[in-house]
Amino acid sequence: MYICVCNKVTDEQIRKAVAGGAHSVKTLQHSLGLGKRCGSCLTMTRSILSESLDDLLNSNPDLYYAA
Ligand code: FES
Repeated sequence: MYICVCNKVTDEQIRKAVAGGAHSVKTLQHSLGLGKRCGSCLTMTRSILSESLDDLLNSNPDLYYAA
């Protein structure tokens, strides 16, 4: 499903980017180019980011101690 219609970015692309290390909205904006026009996608992007980070942490608790 398209999350950022302006830049044709899907939820799957966002989830893959988070799994690949994009752990902030700013990083997602930079790597995928989303949110740079109308910005209406940013609220949904934050939700997907939060869900994806929860999934990552639940699948690998060692990440709690990284960083
Ligand atoms: S929907 Fe993402 S910038 Fe417009």
